[in-house]
Amino acid sequence: MGFFKKNGYLPFSEPEIGEEELNAVKRVFKRNWFTSGPEVKEFEKEFSEIVNSKFSVAVNSATAALHISLKALGIGAGDDVISVPFTFVSTINTIVESGAFPVLVDIDEKSYNISPEKVVEKIEQDYEFSEEYPVNKKTGNRLKAIIPVHYAGQPADMDEIDQIAKKYNLKIIEDAAHAIGSFYKGKKIGNSKNLVAFSFYSNKNITTGGEGGIVCSNSEEYESLLRLYSLHGIDKEAYSRLRQEGLPFYDVKVLGFKYNMTDIAAAIGREQLKRIEKINRKRRLIAKLYSQYLSEVEEIVIKPVSKEKKSSYHLFPVEIKNYERDSLIKELLNKKIQTSVHFIPVHLFSYYKKHYPYKEGDFPVSEAIFRRILSLPIFPAMDEGDVKIVVKAIKDIFSKK
Ligand SMILES: Cc1ncc(COP(=O)(O)O)c(C=O)c1O
Repeated sequence: MGFFKKNGYLPFSEPEIGEEELNAVKRVFKRNWFTSGPEVKEFEKEFSEIVNSKFSVAVNSATAALHISLKALGIGAGDDVISVPFTFVSTINTIVESGAFPVLVDIDEKSYNISPEKVVEKIEQDYEFSEEYPVNKKTGNRLKAIIPVHYAGQPADMDEIDQIAKKYNLKIIEDAAHAIGSFYKGKKIGNSKNLVAFSFYSNKNITTGGEGGIVCSNSEEYESLLRLYSLHGIDKEAYSRLRQEGLPFYDVKVLGFKYNMTDIAAAIGREQLKRIEKINRKRRLIAKLYSQYLSEVEEIVIKPVSKEKKSSYHLFPVEIKNYERDSLIKELLNKKIQTSVHFIPVHLFSYYKKHYPYKEGDFPVSEAIFRRILSLPIFPAMDEGDVKIVVKAIKDIFSKK
C-alpha cells in the first residue's frame, strides 16, 4: 500500500528507518560509550568504502563539515570564496563563519548548478593576477576557493570547475549535502582529491538520526587537520585516551570546534549505509515515474539530468509555468500533499542584504528559478500509486484554471 493510502497525507520527505537502526542504538547503550568511539570509526570506514574515498571524518552536520574544510584549507580573514546564492544558507554561512568573504556567482539555468562560465567571468572581471592567488581589485582579498553545490543530487560541472581551479590556483570544497550516491562521469561523488561534505540531516537520502555530516577526500594531506578542527584541536579523542590507553593527557594543536559525531548517530548511520543502494534506486524510480507522468502537463517543466551525471535525487524539482507557484503549494497542501522550495536565494535574506553588497536583481537566474521552482515529495516509502496521486492532484488544480 502506498504512503498516502496508509497515512492519508504525503509529506515532502520521510526517512527510511526502522528496527535495524533501533537495535544499533541498543548496541551503543550496552557498550555504554556515547560520544565518538568505535561506531564512529567504523562508520567513517564504511562511508569511505561506499563513496570510494581514502578517508572520512564524521561530524554533527554538513555545516560543520563545510566549516572545518574551510579551516583545514587555511581559509580565513582576507580571503574570498566563490559559491552560489541558490543553495541552503549553510553553504554561505560557513564561508562567513570562517572569516572569508562570500563571492556569489549565478547558476546555470539548465542544471541549477554553478555556472563555470560565470565563475570565469567574475574572476577575470574582479581580480588581478599575482603569483599565488587572484587578488580582488577593490578589496585586496585573495581568492582561495570555490564551493560548488551538487543541487538536488545532480553533480556540478566538475571538469570545468577543476580546470578553473587549476588555472587560478583555487581549492575546491564540494557541497555534496544532496549527493550521496551520485555519480559524475562514472565516478562516485566523494571519490575526489577535493574535500567533499555530505549531510545526514533528517530529510537527506540517509540520516544519522536527525543531524550529522561527514567530510571525505582522497587527498590525505588534510585528514589530521580536519580531525583536529572537528574536536577543539585536541590531538587524541576521548575513546582512545580513556578506554584504550587509560591516560588522560592530550595536546591542543589548533583552535577547533565541538563538531564530533556521537556513537549513537554513527550506529544509526551504519545501518542506513546498508540501505543506501536500495534507497537511491527507489528515489531514481520515483523520479522516473514523475518524469513520465508529468511529461504531458504543459505547466510543468522538468529539466533533464545531464547524461554524464547520475543523480541521487535528493530532490525532485520542477518549474511551474503559467500558474502561481505559491497557490499551487497551498492547493496541494489542501489535498494533503506537502511540497517545498529549494532554495530561497541567500542574497535575498535580510542578514545578507544588510551586511553584504548584494541586492535583488544581482543573480537573475537564481531569482527567476526560485520564483517558479517546486520540490515534489520524494522518498523511498513512496510507490507508483503515490506518484499518481501527486500527478492527478496537480492536473486537477491546473484544469480548474
Ligand atoms: C545544499 C546544502 N548544503 C548544506 C546543508 C547543510 O546540511 P546540515 O543540515 O547537515 O548542516 C544543506 C542542508 O539541507 C544543504 O541543502
